This record gives sequence, structure tokens and C-alpha cells, in this order.
Amino acid sequence: CGIVGIVGNQPVAVRLVDALKRLEYRGYDSAGVATIHQGKLERRRAEGKLVNLERRLAEEPLAGTSGIAHTRWATHGAPIERNAHPHFTDGVAVVHNGIIENFAAIKNELSGEGATFHTQTDTEVVAQLIAAYVRKGMTNRAAVQAMLKRVTGAYALAILFENEPGAVYAARSGPPLAIGYGEGEMFLGSDAIALAPFTNQISYLIDGDWAVLTHDRAEIMDFDGNPVTRARQLSVAAAYVIDKGNHRHFMEKEIYEQPEAISHALGHYIDFAERKVSAIAGSIDFANLSGLAISACGTAYLAGLTSKYWFERYARLPVEIDVASEFRYREVPLNANSAALFISQSGETADTLASLRYCRDAGLKIGAVVNVRESTIARESDAIFPILAGPEIGVASTKAFTCQLSVLAALAIGAGRQRGTISAELEQTLVGHLAEMPRIMSAVLNRIQPTIETLARDLSKCKDVLYLGRGTSYPLAMEGALKLKEISYIHAEGYAAGELKHGPIALIDENMPVIVIAPHDRFFEKTVSNMQEVAARGGRIIFITDEKGAAASDLPTMATIVLPDVDEAIQPMIFSLPIQLLAYHTAVFMGTDVDQPRNLAKSVTVE
Ligand code: G6P
Repeated sequence: CGIVGIVGNQPVAVRLVDALKRLEYRGYDSAGVATIHQGKLERRRAEGKLVNLERRLAEEPLAGTSGIAHTRWATHGAPIERNAHPHFTDGVAVVHNGIIENFAAIKNELSGEGATFHTQTDTEVVAQLIAAYVRKGMTNRAAVQAMLKRVTGAYALAILFENEPGAVYAARSGPPLAIGYGEGEMFLGSDAIALAPFTNQISYLIDGDWAVLTHDRAEIMDFDGNPVTRARQLSVAAAYVIDKGNHRHFMEKEIYEQPEAISHALGHYIDFAERKVSAIAGSIDFANLSGLAISACGTAYLAGLTSKYWFERYARLPVEIDVASEFRYREVPLNANSAALFISQSGETADTLASLRYCRDAGLKIGAVVNVRESTIARESDAIFPILAGPEIGVASTKAFTCQLSVLAALAIGAGRQRGTISAELEQTLVGHLAEMPRIMSAVLNRIQPTIETLARDLSKCKDVLYLGRGTSYPLAMEGALKLKEISYIHAEGYAAGELKHGPIALIDENMPVIVIAPHDRFFEKTVSNMQEVAARGGRIIFITDEKGAAASDLPTMATIVLPDVDEAIQPMIFSLPIQLLAYHTAVFMGTDVDQPRNLAKSVTVE
């Protein structure tokens, strides 16, 4: 899931692994590094975390001033050392992110010509293909280009040749790759964060690009081999301190950063003096749209689902929303008079990007709600709506979610103004509520931790948990369940409270806590009826509500978490906090790897 390469003038193995550490947040299950020393390729690989690789390197150090390294998130073949990258074939070393879709056909063909494969991975065909072309007399450069013409699928690649120690080859079609410019050294990395300790001079490869890095330059070519230039940018990644501060985990730090992150995000979208949504440069013209399509994955999808309620309510704009992996293949009939929004923290998620391209081909105006402004999704959009959350390192998304929500709320209100569906007074009131969020969030974060910690101890003993909510508390119920399962591995489901009686009620017993998210809003009475149904069947309720809601219900609960009374428009952001903290503390009790939960990746660049 992460790639690093260095053409250096001092030993690189340790530096490569340090750079991999900065990519750890993306999730992985094995790792490896290769260098060239005295004309020979050598590698060290290890299953599991980078400490295992570091241990291997301490026992058997690798010399050499050029190298490539990789953290792998298994797709084809188990996460064992043999399948870990780099893959070696006849003096060619390869690391790869993505999936080579036609690998089986290529493998058959090369096996027919006598090649022996050593792994179950799709990646090995890249090394084998290049080696086969070199055997046929091609130069390294020609062999790389021929390989790129032969493989299909998604890839970011770094390639090292034993007979060319002063060069690292790179290619991109899908997962991101950045080139870093140093002093007599050149770098390659999956993102600017990986390269931040080395350089802040970055250029990003775009799809179809490939490159040859030598000590003092990067030659970048398009798919047909024509030289191209990709602008050098000053990366801001170095400005971010990627450490945990006083927190035990990045996730905890990121939960507590939310008041600040949201202030920052809102500052971009709100004119606090005038109490209105600012005109956003390059923005989508919502006034005459007939509809809005939204697509995203995971937590970003749940932010999108929440915003459907806002766009429909405040802007009277019909919203079509689906998870990107379905949206891209559903053959959704799209009207060119609609616009489409894609929500993605990383801006690189493969399914979301494919949905974007589908909508673009249908002639829709495209907006990207992203955290990484240089990302592919941002670059392929007509309008970029940055969420300004700063780097999110924990695999389970927290601050990116609430920043996505804040930006989407501002956009829905702005769309309402453009469409004349909300009055200037209502806009002022709603913007006033958005502006209160950072203060309220800080107060909530300072207060609820002890209650949550006690509750988390109980929750950590459970096998199944059900979350219920109505209105915007429904997507939040799903987000609560997603957070809990992601990091504590407890099975959890989020349901619309009204659906309880259509199925999940059959599961209710004293062993399955039911977490009810019910602020005192338009839906409160209805949700309380559903709570009655749970209580009547001996179910144990964890009630997440506000002051009015707590006063209005006398049902016995296992615990009640009381938040301040806030306007409906900002409930999802405020109510996210207990949900995130509950998942976090439960996972801490269980002793799981909170920041890098098993099997998950931060940025999923495969289908
Ligand atoms: C992965 C991550 C999730 C994230 C989803 C979408 O599954 O583990 O936290 O919500 O991808 O990622 P994106 O970068 O597109 O928001």
C-alpha cells in the first residue's frame, strides 16, 4: 500500500524504512526493502509490522545507495514473507501497489516460454515480463515501456535493475506516486508525507506517466514515451508534525483535533461577519441544477448520505447517492443538468474515481470534497471543495468525517441560497449554528470521556452491537457501527430505527446492547417508541441524547450519554464525538491495533 524509492549518495536501507513508517497509516500487512550493493540486488522482507523488517535489517543490514521499499496490503496471495515485495526476477526488482488485471494470461504465456514463478502475486508478472524483454535484447528502458504496454489494471510501480544501480524506474496508472527532488539525490514516494524528511520539492506523476530517476534528475515520459514535464510544487507536508503529541494513538489525537480542524474548514466556507456562506471560487452553480449525484466509499459515503438530508431539505435538490463500487456499475441514468459530488479523504479511492469518470463522461459538472488537494479525484474535478482537516493518520476516519460533514453542510446551505429555497434569515441562523460547533465540540470532548470509558469496558465484552437512529442520526448509526467494527472487531450494525421491527428486533436479547442515537428533534418521539420495543424484549439500551431528550424519557438504560441541546443542522457533527470515543475506548480496552486495524487500508486504490 506504500512505495518509496531513493537514488542516493549515502546508504538508503534505513532511510527507506523510515519513509515507509510515514506511510504506515495507509495500512499494510507485510513489508520489504531492496538495494543494490557491489552490483548485486539484495532484499529483506518480513510479515506483519515494520518493526519485524527493522529487526531483520538489524540482524542482516543492507548496504547500497539506491533502493526501493514497500508496504503491502494483500490482494493476490496471503500476507506472508514469500509474497512480500520487492519481487526479484533475473536482476529486476519490482514493488507495486494496485492490481495487474491480466496477470493470469501473462503468467500462462511466460510459463509457456519456460519462466518459473515463485509467488502467487500479480506483481511478479511485472518483474518476469521486464526480464523476458531484456532477455530478448531490449534495453532496460525499452523493456519497462514494453511491459507497461502489456499490463492492464491499476498500478504504481518502482523498479530497480541490478545492472543500472544509479536509476530507479517508476510508473503510475491509478495509485499515486510523487517524485521528490533532493541535493544529488532523487526520491520516489506514494505521497508527499513519505518524502517530507527528504525534500519539499515534489512533482506528481499523472496516470500513464512513467519516469527514470537518476542522481540529479527525473525524466518523465507519457505512455507513448514522449517526454513530459510535471510542475514542481512546494509540498506543505513537512509543515505538519506527524506525531501523536500527548495522545496514545493518532486516532485519539485526531478526535481531539476536531474543534480546531472544523474551525479551519469553516473559515474557508463561511463569512462569519456576514453570517453567510462565502461565494466559493470555481464552485458549482447550484441554482439551475435538476439533481445532485453523490458517491463515495466507507466513512466518506456516510458523510454523503448525511448531506443528502441537507441538500434535499435546505436546497430542495433531489440527491441520488450510492457507494461508489455500486454506483460505477449500476448504469445510473444521469441528466447533464445535474452535478455530481465525490467525497474522499485521500482523493485516491479507486471506486470513487471510477464513479467520477462515469459522471464526467455523462457530461455532469464534477465537484470533489477531498482532504488531499493534489489528489487524482481533485485534479479530475471542475470544482474542489477542500475539507482542510490536515493529514489523517489513523485508518479509522474521524476528523475527516466531521470536516466532510461541515463542508457539505455549508455547501447545502449555500446551494439553498442560490436556489432561493432558504431565506437570508434562515441562512444566518444556520451559519450561526455552524459557527458554534468548535466551541460545543471542545466542551463535549472535555466532559464525556469518563462516562464513555466506563461504558467501553462493558462494550468490550460484547459480541454484537446494534446502532439505531432516524433522520441524520441514521447515517450516524451506520458510522458508529462502522467505527466499532473497524477498530474493535466487534460485530456491529447500524439501522434506521424504523426498520428495527422489520428484522433486527429478532436479535434483541440481554447480550446485544442497542445504542440509540436520539437527540430531541422531529423524530424523537418515534425513536423513543422503538426504544420501548427494545426494552419490552429485555434489550439493554445505551441512550445517546441531549438534555431535552434525557429529560423527556424515563426508560431504563444501561447508560445515558447526555450532550448539549443543539440545532438539528449540527447534530451529526456533535453526536459523532461520543460515537468515535466509544469505538476508540472499546478498542483500547481490547488491546487492538487502533491506528492500523487488521486487514484495513487507509487509502484503497484497488477495486
Ligand atoms: C478505506 C478507509 C476508510 C475510508 C474509505 C474511503 O476503507 O479505511 O476510513 O472511509 O477507505 O476512503 P476515502 O479516502 O475515499 O475517503
